[in-house]
Amino acid sequence: MPDDILGEMRRTHNCCELDAGSVGKEVVLMGWVQRRRDHGGVIFIDLRDREGITQVVFNPEKDIKIHEKAHAIRNEYVIGVRGIVDNRPEGMTNPNLKTGEIEITVVEIKILNVAKTPPFSIEDKVDVSETIRLKYRHIDLRRTQMQSNMIKRHKAAVSVRNYLDRLGFLEIETPVLTRSTPEGARDYLVPSRVNPGQFYALPQSPQLFKQLLMISGFDRYYQIVRCFRDEDLRADRQPEFTQIDMEMSFVGENDIMDMAEGMMKEIFNDVLGVGIKPPFLRLSYKDSISRFGLDRPDIRFGLELKDISDIVEKSGFKVFSSVIKKGGIVKALNAKGCSYFSRKEIDDLAEFVAVYNARGLAWIKVKEDTWQSPITKFFTDEEKEALSRRIEMEPGDLVFFVADQPKVTNEALGHLRNHLGKKLDIINENEFSFVWVTDFPLLEYDETEKRFQALHHPFTAPLEKDLKLLKDDPLAVRSRAYDLVLNGSEIGGGSIRIHNKDQQEKVFETLGMDKETYEEKFGFLLSALDSGAPPHGGIAFGFDRLVMILCGQPSIRDVIAFPKTQKAACLLTNAPAEISKSQLDELSLKLRI
Ligand code: AMO
Ligand code: AMP
Repeated sequence: MPDDILGEMRRTHNCCELDAGSVGKEVVLMGWVQRRRDHGGVIFIDLRDREGITQVVFNPEKDIKIHEKAHAIRNEYVIGVRGIVDNRPEGMTNPNLKTGEIEITVVEIKILNVAKTPPFSIEDKVDVSETIRLKYRHIDLRRTQMQSNMIKRHKAAVSVRNYLDRLGFLEIETPVLTRSTPEGARDYLVPSRVNPGQFYALPQSPQLFKQLLMISGFDRYYQIVRCFRDEDLRADRQPEFTQIDMEMSFVGENDIMDMAEGMMKEIFNDVLGVGIKPPFLRLSYKDSISRFGLDRPDIRFGLELKDISDIVEKSGFKVFSSVIKKGGIVKALNAKGCSYFSRKEIDDLAEFVAVYNARGLAWIKVKEDTWQSPITKFFTDEEKEALSRRIEMEPGDLVFFVADQPKVTNEALGHLRNHLGKKLDIINENEFSFVWVTDFPLLEYDETEKRFQALHHPFTAPLEKDLKLLKDDPLAVRSRAYDLVLNGSEIGGGSIRIHNKDQQEKVFETLGMDKETYEEKFGFLLSALDSGAPPHGGIAFGFDRLVMILCGQPSIRDVIAFPKTQKAACLLTNAPAEISKSQLDELSLKLRI
């Protein structure tokens, strides 16, 4: 037998299990030392495991040898204790702790391992930079909040699997070393040693494989799967992230939305015990942009945008009228009751919208019988009257205006709306507001590349009734795509797919690909579509984003065990890293830096 530090000692309970009902029992607990308190003789240790904390006591009057051992113990030591469950003395109970009524009087202790003083203490509100937290992630993950996040993440995954299993979905794995799947980001590439000069792409999603699985007859597929996208990172974006990916055959939009709503209901019930009530609100892309400025509206609060282009089109305010002449629009956001905002606050908001390329932020403060504003003088009484009615201006209001091309105007005011919602504290943080956004345009025009691009991906089916527009007015064609938005965050997106080879080829051509190009890139898909492809569609949810909302966490990194930084680095392992000359040679690669 090798030297076994545990010996015969085995855990009987976790650190959150014992209460007054167990008094008198002999138990064994194992875990980490959260805190040691030496009360002039008696030593108390808060013993921690993933479930919670239990107080263990070393009393010199009961056993001097054991008490001596306890003297050596420091924070984060790993120990095992055998002891008797006792009631805490009068006045020493802790109602904030599940195990607060009892303590363990130790009769045997094993120090299973020592620990260096940790770089930060294992507490939730610890003031430490994220860089340090990520470098010592194994220690950061010991914090109660992080343990709770990971446990919720696990529960959500179990909930998904149970629900989909009941509905007859099969979990099927798809390759990680594959070809590029166009989801709109850059690919992560992996060089092939045995095929010099050739590269795999890590999947941006399993999109084409799941369509092929439908063509193979699997009918209902799902996978909780890693996706890889080399894109600019934000608080809700990681270079590798997890999707709940699914696909169904012989279905239309409503079938998939019903299935997804049922899944959300189950997850929120299983993880939070919160009741969600489908069906969710549905909003067309057009209405979403028009009312909220964004295609992921936060519908928990008002402050909706109003288009006032028709009113100010001929006004004397050149900033507005000239923008409209150039195809732009002017929209207003009424910040109800905010006329008390200072000049500094308004200037800050102008800086805020400048980030979204707005060239200015005009404003009007509505006073009892006058408007205070740098732009009022440009409007006639009729224009003022019309503005007042359209924007529902009342004394005490502060109205903001942006004039620009539609994309800039909507984005700037849409983000300003979210920003004001937070600033004014009018968002109920305990509310979960789901909304489907539907009827997206099939295509958008990429100004830099000077060509059309799929708004979702090129395999999304166009709306049947818009098909005739594909040739002459491609931007007017709507798609059979839908996004699920929760509290202003896009948590899922999908579509009914093209299942007909000719139609797929037409879309590739509209995207500016010639036959040779699409045959080379997507020949396998076209041939599969020609082999008996059932009508099919699906959706993928951003699992990390969903868990982030379930956990009420501000960053996606807080719900991923080992996340990457904004620069796509892992501070724990120091990836990415340089490789040796011989590895480069083996891959037939030469660096140019
Ligand atoms: P889409 O590209 O919309 O669709 O991705 C689906 C969902 O994944 C989440 N997501 C991300 N989460 C974290 N970090 C990222 N970098 C990131 N990128 C996307 C979002 C998004 O809604 N194949 C299609 C799905 C389909 O058509 O069925 C797809 O991948 O929450
Ligand atoms: P100016 O005449 O340029 O001093 O602008 C008068 C006001 O209009 C200022 O408050 C500017 O912030 C605002 N403004 C300028 N350009 C725009 C624009 N494109 N959209 C909205 N407001 C603007």
